Amino acid sequence: MDAKNKELVLVLDFGGQYNQLIARRVRDLNVYAEVIPYTTSLEDIKARNPKGIIFTGGPNSVYKEDSPSYDKAIMEQGIPVLGICYGSQLIAHKLGGEVKTAPVSEYGKTEVEVDTTSILYKDVHPTTITWMSHTDYIAKAPEGFKVTGHTDHCPIASMENAEKKIYAVQFHPEVMHSVEGQTMLKNFLYDVCGCSGDWKMDTFVEDTIKAIREKVGDGKALCALSGGVDSSVAAVLMSKAIGKQLTCVFVDHGLLRKDEGNQVESVFGPNGPYDLNFIRVDASKQFYEKLAGVTEPEAKRKIIGEEFIRVFEKEAKKIGAVDFLVQGTIYPDVIESGLGKSAVIKSHHNVGGLPDYVDFKEIVEPLRMLFKDEVRKVGQKLGIPDYLVMRQPFPGPGLGIRIIGDVTPEKVRIVQEADAIYREELENAGIQKSANLGQYFAALTNMRSVGVMGDFRTYDYAIALRAVCTADFMTADCAQIPWDVLTKVANRIVNEVKGVNRVLYDCTSKPPATIEFE
Ligand code: XMP
Repeated sequence: MDAKNKELVLVLDFGGQYNQLIARRVRDLNVYAEVIPYTTSLEDIKARNPKGIIFTGGPNSVYKEDSPSYDKAIMEQGIPVLGICYGSQLIAHKLGGEVKTAPVSEYGKTEVEVDTTSILYKDVHPTTITWMSHTDYIAKAPEGFKVTGHTDHCPIASMENAEKKIYAVQFHPEVMHSVEGQTMLKNFLYDVCGCSGDWKMDTFVEDTIKAIREKVGDGKALCALSGGVDSSVAAVLMSKAIGKQLTCVFVDHGLLRKDEGNQVESVFGPNGPYDLNFIRVDASKQFYEKLAGVTEPEAKRKIIGEEFIRVFEKEAKKIGAVDFLVQGTIYPDVIESGLGKSAVIKSHHNVGGLPDYVDFKEIVEPLRMLFKDEVRKVGQKLGIPDYLVMRQPFPGPGLGIRIIGDVTPEKVRIVQEADAIYREELENAGIQKSANLGQYFAALTNMRSVGVMGDFRTYDYAIALRAVCTADFMTADCAQIPWDVLTKVANRIVNEVKGVNRVLYDCTSKPPATIEFE
């Protein structure tokens, strides 16, 4: 919530797919970083007093007229700049160097020979593996720049003007495949920008509790609790700050996983470990009615988002004089809902799907500036048990976006049961703990097909199983679940879940697919 007095590095977003990752890596190095659109004015940037600026990569070519660009005056402010990929080419282009289509595009792990006398390469090996992904390259460095890295195909893999503190790398240091990328970022932050590293989760908790108290005063707040990681952490953080001035409302929209409502109640309800005002509202009928016949994914998301807010408003009126609505929105939601130039893929309900009119004085989003792994760390600092803090994400619109097409109570039942079997079997096989398995669930395709059971023809639904490996949920690979586990799950589902006669496994990655089905 309150990062105002922290050292700040701004990540100027030119539409690259790794823009958030850059900010996360910087924060991993204990420096607060924010992603801002490249359209941000120089005045606004200067007003934030950043210790450094990082230009991200992007899909464009700098020499096309309408490509994202930036006022070159930014490089005359004495603020250190690091350009990555497209960002590095922009520096070259703006300052009088030359950018061309490379005779050979480089993609993937690439060896770079670096000049270890550069501050950027302190403690880096002279030959280091980096991640490249480019079709243009810097053919000629601008005047005053020294070339500090090259590959077999790229004569200027990095360059710098150390006096002006401007650094440019063609590769992506933020990507884990760049073996010493984190060392390079660290050198930039600490040795070039002069950061001291004051972004720590302990102080975040203290500062945020203080800021919440100041903001809420002796007012009342209502927390939208879903039982997921984000809203659970937000609720506990709020309750540490304002105690019983907080009421947590858990809306059972009838789109939860099997038994989830009771599980949430057992943790946050009157018999759980927290001393919270907890209200559980069964609003499933209302949601089903609103969703009846609606098939368009964005329309479904908007309806669910809006109904949520309406239910909260109603509860708030019952409590009376509630000024603040608390939401567990986190930073990727904020960015993905259209902060930068990147296309809006889905409107996540906690942000993009909010109705225009919200009947609260203010919305409080204490985790708004945090990445997921930071939220988990805050949760652990607050003493929330690991089984809650480390659980896989579950989207706000719930099973509503795991049922393709219109939602009915019957379809919800089918997907709940299939999903419960899938999760149980992956847990039995110990696979849910395997490295990087980010999310796994069953979804109901809207497809019915012919099957045979006993001697009878069936015409039933197909369930799709999804499991992805991901560190950041921005990109994901399909997980290779062992065949015997998959076939056991498929067998159990068709035998135990009425209405299903076929089970499919989704083996697409993200991109081009997304993790959820809608
Ligand atoms: P996609 O489907 O966009 O999902 O690849 C990326 C991650 O975001 C979660 N997700 C949501 N979370 N509200 C949420 O709180 C939403 O509307 C929403 N949509 C997707 C998804 O489960 C995955 O972890």
